[in-house]
Order: sequence, then structure tokens, then C-alpha cells
Amino acid sequence: MGSPFKYSGIAIRLSVDFPVQRGMESGFTDGDCYEKKFNPRIYLETYYLSPLGEVLEKTFMPFVLTNLVKTFSSDTELVSFREKWTEKEKKLRDSIKQVLKCDVHQTNPLDPVELEPVDCLMTSLCLEAACKDKAAYCAALRNVTSLLKPDGVLILISDLNESYYIVDELKFSSLKFDQAFLESAIKEAGYEIDGFEICVASDHIKSLVDCEATIFLVAHKCKNA
Ligand SMILES: C[S@@+](CC[C@H](N)C(=O)[O-])C[C@H]1O[C@@H](n2cnc3c(N)ncnc32)[C@H](O)[C@@H]1O
Repeated sequence: MGSPFKYSGIAIRLSVDFPVQRGMESGFTDGDCYEKKFNPRIYLETYYLSPLGEVLEKTFMPFVLTNLVKTFSSDTELVSFREKWTEKEKKLRDSIKQVLKCDVHQTNPLDPVELEPVDCLMTSLCLEAACKDKAAYCAALRNVTSLLKPDGVLILISDLNESYYIVDELKFSSLKFDQAFLESAIKEAGYEIDGFEICVASDHIKSLVDCEATIFLVAHKCKNA
């Protein structure tokens, strides 16, 4: 079946019944489902380029980008608006040293690669998609935390109270939790929280994802963690 999205039009057309895929019978889409069914290009087009993407460009995207600029820039050094996006893209691509496979359920998520602990770790809309319950979420958080230096910074972008999102007419599960759970899981994993921002979800995205809000959290790993 072809994609329901018509990029040239304004409306997003969706069928009402979304196929339930193997692994989703339990309500959870596991790693096997991701390997076989998750189409990253359609995900990108749906959430970042389509008419929905245009809505998110006015809500989710400025929320995330503004918070990233605040986190990474000093007061005097702000993003250069004189630089063209193509130059920015080149700079970013040139800075990437390696792209590695990651499975947050493994004690070393980058196994078999062993990395020196890093200064900063960023995860976006991933842990809630990967974990079937709160215990698995806390374990995955501990696993990724092992990649970070003491005093290193965690940037976590997450959806609150989301149970699913749709990509190419397929429903992917998301672990539903609130702010209180997230804060306590972060502290339990050995962090002190430095910043927590919330952006309420736009009604326009409710046909594809049932989250209430997106959060942008910054925390540092305590020395004894
Ligand atoms: C909602 S998408 C988020 C994509 C992107 N990071 C973003 O911010 O838009 C969920 C992502 O979680 C990844 N994922 C699912 N299970 C995972 C696992 N066990 N370990 C690491 N990533 C996983 C999927 O590959 C998918 O890219």
C-alpha cells in the first residue's frame, strides 16, 4: 500500500484502521519489528517534511532547536544567521567521526564497540519507543548512562504520556509515562536535573501520535554515579 501522505496538498489522509503488526499483539513493538517494519525515510518525511512537518516546524522544531542553542551556546556566542544552511550542513557532516549501531537494551549499547566515556549524550524520542515497561526504561537509561563521563551532560528529548505513533500506516508502541516518573528515573540513574522544558503537543498531530507534550531535559551525571 502506498503512502497516504500527499505532500503537494494540505490535508493528511489516513485510513482509520491501522494494521497491527507482529510483536504488537502484546501492545509492544520490539526490536524485531523495528528491524523489519520501521521505515526511517518515511518517518523523516512524515514528521519532519510533510504538511505535518510544517506544523511541527512551528511547534516541536523551534522548541527543540531553541533549547539546543541555549544548551550549547554561551551568552555571547549565538548561532550565526549569516551562515548558509548548506555551510552549516557541511560543518556538521565534517564533525561526525563515526556512526555506530546502538541497542539501548545492551549493557554496552554500542557492543561490540568500546568507547571512552563521552562528555555529552543526547537521545531523542528513542527510549520510550524502545522500552516495553518502566523497569526496561530504567535499565536502558542505566545502560546509556554508562557511556557518559562523571559530570557529563545528558540531553533527553521525550514525549510525555504517549502510547503510540504511526509511520507509514503502522502503529509503533511508546511507553506511557508522566513527568514525575521521568524525573525520578533520571535521578535514580545518577543524575542531577539542570533544566526541564515542556512544549504542549499541537492538536494537528493527534491523528498520528497521541502524546500530550514534548519535554527537553538537561541533566549532569553525578560524580559518584
Ligand atoms: C520515534 S523514532 C525517533 C527517531 C529520532 N531519534 C527522532 O528524534 O525523531 C524511535 C527510534 O527508536 C529507535 N529504537 C527502537 N528500539 C531501539 C533500541 N532497542 N535501541 C536503540 N534505538 C532503538 C528506532 O530505530 C527509531 O529510530
